[in-house]
This record gives sequence, structure tokens and C-alpha cells, in this order.
Amino acid sequence: MMMAMPNSIPKFENLDQENKHLREELTQLKEDKAKVIEKERWISIGRLAAGIAHEINNPLGFVQNNLFALDLYIQNFSQLIQNYHLLLESIAHIPEVKAALTKLKEIEKSLKIAENMVEINNAFTQCHDGLKRIENIVKTIRNFSQNESVSEEETEPYNINICVENAIILTKTEHRYHTDFITDYGDIPLIECNPGKLTQVFLNILINACHAIREFHSPDQQRGMIMIKTKAVRNQIICEITDNGPGIPEEIQNHIFDPFFTTKGAIGTGLGLSICTDIISKHKGEITLTSKLNQGTSFIITLPQ
Ligand SMILES: Nc1ncnc2c1ncn2[C@@H]1O[C@H](COP(=O)(O)OP(=O)(O)OP(=O)(O)O)[C@@H](O)[C@H]1O
Ligand SMILES: [Mg+2]
Repeated sequence: MMMAMPNSIPKFENLDQENKHLREELTQLKEDKAKVIEKERWISIGRLAAGIAHEINNPLGFVQNNLFALDLYIQNFSQLIQNYHLLLESIAHIPEVKAALTKLKEIEKSLKIAENMVEINNAFTQCHDGLKRIENIVKTIRNFSQNESVSEEETEPYNINICVENAIILTKTEHRYHTDFITDYGDIPLIECNPGKLTQVFLNILINACHAIREFHSPDQQRGMIMIKTKAVRNQIICEITDNGPGIPEEIQNHIFDPFFTTKGAIGTGLGLSICTDIISKHKGEITLTSKLNQGTSFIITLPQ
């Protein structure tokens, strides 16, 4: 008598399929969870930064106002002293005045008043410049943190040169001692985009470049260099970010965009570039790279106009 074949084999096949399916879903869930945590992290960083920026903004305001006032008062004094000089010169034929004038000129010389005036002007120019830079950093941080809470779907016509510049300002505060930033901004049209998200992309790529440079160049060696170039080509906008770091070995170039891939051990989450890919693909663009060992890496971001 023939035994009927158990019909459990197809069930095992189903189980295998289901197992595979569940494993894929679990991986996807892990990735989604990590991305939500990373997004929350950016939002918290944004809030913290916005708080600090707000605190800096108040004293910055009165320091700037006082500096402008001091600058003006010193110019007034300087103008008054010049008028005293002219007056004294005009009555220098009176012997007592002539003697007093000679004495005054000696004092002015010994106190180096003329040189001091030049230095005061230089100091004011540098202070105004320094405060302007702080003001820009504060503005950038505030813009960035406001954008962090904006939904990803919200877009507006924007010039991505501004996103790049904002990302550079945010990166420079920490890394300018090791790295020079060279920019070549093309004349590019506005594109419909989410400026905060694109700033986050440029920020991630710039920070990666700074990390790579920092590991590669010792402090007494030549400084690191990051070149950022934007241009409009046909119906695309291209942004190239090139560093002179160690380059990326060919065998890992295919993995660096994978979630959790990092060569930075515990300090890296390995999510930076995968988030960049996400954001850029939502903008219907792409990120590619070219890299040469011991020479550096270029990330090329292409966005449709
Ligand atoms: N400019 C670069 N030069 C050399 N290696 C780079 C560069 N940019 C990225 N990488 C490599 O790509 C890996 C993945 O980068 P990614 O930004 O995704 O994560 P991470 O920087 O390691 O971690 P996190 O962004 O969370 O701090 C890095 O660990 C590094 O090995
Ligand atoms: Mg990174």
C-alpha cells in the first residue's frame, strides 16, 4: 500500500519564507527606530543650541551697542583734539602758547598718541568684525534649530549656497584650527527644498571630512583643506565637497552609506551618511563619491532644479 506524502514540506518552505520576511521586517524596524532616535537627537541638539544662541544674543546686543557708542565717542574726542591742535597752531606766535604747544607735542610723542589712534581704530574694526561673526553664528544656529522642528515635507524656494554657508559656519566654530575652508559658490537658481534638512546633509558631510582630516594630519603637519564648490549644470545643481583627508578604502566605499556602518568605534553611530542619502533621495537627488587613498575624498551631491 502506498503511503501518502506528508504535506508538511510545503509548510516548512512557507516557514522559511516567513522567517526571512520577519528578519527583513526586524532589520527595517531597527533601522527606523535608530533613525527616529537620531532625529530626536538632532531636535534635542537643536533645542539646546537655540537656548544657548538665545542666551548669547542678549549680551551680544548690548556689547555691540556699547561698542558702537564707544567708537563714536572716541571719534568725537579725536575730532575735538584735532580742533584744539589747529587752534593752538593758529596762536602759536604767542611765546607762552608756543612753549606750551612744544611741551604738549613732546607728551604726545612720548605717549605715542598717533600710533595709539591707529591701534584704537584697528581694535574697533576687529571687535566689530568679531561681534558680526558671533552674530552670524547665533543667527545660523537659531535658523538651523528652527528648521529642525519643521516637518520634512515642508519645502520652499531656496538658494542652497545659503545652506552650504550655514553648515560651514556651524562646522568652522569647532574645526577652524585644523582645517581651511575654501568656497567657490556658483550662480545657482533657487530650488524647491527643505533648507534645514539640506543644511543637515552638508553639515554631516563637512563634519565627516573634518574628522577624517583630524585623524590624518598631525597638528605640526600641513593643515587640512576642504573645498566646497557649487554650480548649476543644465537642469541640475551640483555641490562638491572635497577634503584632503586619508581617503576611503575601496572595499568600504560601498558600505559607508549603510545605516550603522562606522569606522569610528563607539563615538560614531554610522547613521550620518544614511540620513544624508534619505534626505537627498527625498529631494530626488543623489550623492556619489570619488576617493583616493592618502589624497582625499569628494562627495558630489546632485539636486534637480
Ligand atoms: N570624508 C571622509 N573621509 C574618510 N572617511 C569618511 C569620510 N566621510 C565618511 N567616511 C567614512 O564613512 C563612515 C560612515 O560615515 P557616517 O557619517 O555615516 O557615520 P559616522 O561618521 O561614522 O558616525 P556619525 O555620523 O554618527 O558620527 C565613517 O565612519 C568613515 O569611515
Ligand atoms: Mg558622520
